[in-house]
This record gives sequence, structure tokens and C-alpha cells, in this order.
Amino acid sequence: MTVFDRQIKIAPSILSADFAAFGAEVRAIEAQGADWVHVDVMDGHFVPNLTFGPQLVKAIRPHVKTVMDVHLMIAPVDPYIDAFADAGADILTAHVEAGPHIHRTLQAIRGAGMKAGVALNPGTPAEAVAPLLDDVDLVLVMSVNPGFGGQKFIHATIDKIAALREMIGDREIHLEVDGGVDVATAPLVAKAGADALVAGSAVFRGGSVDEAQIYGENIAAIRAAARG
Ligand code: DX5
Ligand code: ZN
Repeated sequence: MTVFDRQIKIAPSILSADFAAFGAEVRAIEAQGADWVHVDVMDGHFVPNLTFGPQLVKAIRPHVKTVMDVHLMIAPVDPYIDAFADAGADILTAHVEAGPHIHRTLQAIRGAGMKAGVALNPGTPAEAVAPLLDDVDLVLVMSVNPGFGGQKFIHATIDKIAALREMIGDREIHLEVDGGVDVATAPLVAKAGADALVAGSAVFRGGSVDEAQIYGENIAAIRAAARG
């Protein structure tokens, strides 16, 4: 991982990519300006959808030259931490709602050599991360209920981002927003203090590996909107 900064980072979610061509899709979004690659792991239990597990994440790894940002929407988390470390995740994010012992989970993630992230569902208050700030490198604020791409941004998230930004203060903790981020909502989340913007449908919309310049236009438009 690169040195910590609060520049806006665009993290396309490959949930909106062609699942039969992940390697080519990852190379395309990075060539077109993606800062991080966001990888959504779902278990059909914590969220009502299934995607893939550590073996596929490991297969994607050699194609990722930036940062592999892995968002676990699974419960339990702990039995799989070593597998995701072995798969090469740079950041591994677990939901605070996914189990009763989040400190243990976050410490195990760091112990396995990864950056530790904690994610909050839209219904979980900002205060839930206050006791965790010494144990995390990233806070992920869900701005839709996790499970699917292409959902509508929940505007109540904005106040939560601002509260978390204040809570984080000078700590080197990234504040990431995930769900419904596009040119209309990017300025709102950036103004509230987010520095990492996950975008799935808004990046992949209209493009393909053969028309990757459209990914580039989408990424540039979101970044420009966020910068204001
Ligand atoms: C949703 C995932 C998101 C999703 C975002 O559960 O965590 O990363 O892919 O997709 P969009 O940007 O389409 O809302
Ligand atoms: Zn995600």
C-alpha cells in the first residue's frame, strides 16, 4: 500500500464487472484511472446474495497493481481471515454487525498482515466504531443495504459520514463510502469527509473491456464531481 493520504480515491466495485472476465476487467479499470479495486465477497447468509470466495480473490490478485480492497459481507468472518490473507488482500473489511467479537476479528486481520477495515450497515450508528478506532485502518460506511449493486443512495448516510470524519480526527484511517455513489452523490460524500469512494454501476455503466475508455470517462467524472 502507498503512503496514507486523504486524496479522493475511486474504487470501482467489480460486482458490476463481467464475472467471466475479471482479469481483463481489473486491468481495464486500472488502466483507466482506478485507485483501488473493490472486491465484494457475499455469503448468501449475512446478505441475500452470493458472489465468490478466497480462491477467486486469489485468482484476481496478480491482475491488481493498485490496492485490493476486499469487502466481506459474510458471517462468521474469523475462520476465513487466513484464506483472504493468503489470497493477497491488502485491505480486509468486516462488518461490525457480522459477529459478537469485532475487536478479535480486527486484530486477527492486522495480525495476518493486512490493513483492517470495519463496515457499518445503514442502520448502524456512527458510535459503533468509537471503541474500535485504535484497531482499524479504514471505516466503510454503507450507503445502501449491502447485497446488490445499482441501489439508490440513502441520504441519511451523509450526516453519519460527517460524524465519523470528526471522530477519526488526525488518525490515519480512511473513510470509505459504498453504495449508490455516482456524479450526483460523490460531491455530497466527499464534502462530508469521505476519501475513498466505491462505485460499481456508475463506473461500469456503458463500458466493456473492449470499450474501456468509457470506464475512464465514468471514473474521471466521479472524481471531478467529488473534487467539486
Ligand atoms: C453492495 C456492495 C457494493 C456495490 C456498489 O453490497 O458492497 O460495493 O457493488 O454498487 P453500486 O455502486 O452500483 O451501488
Ligand atoms: Zn462493497
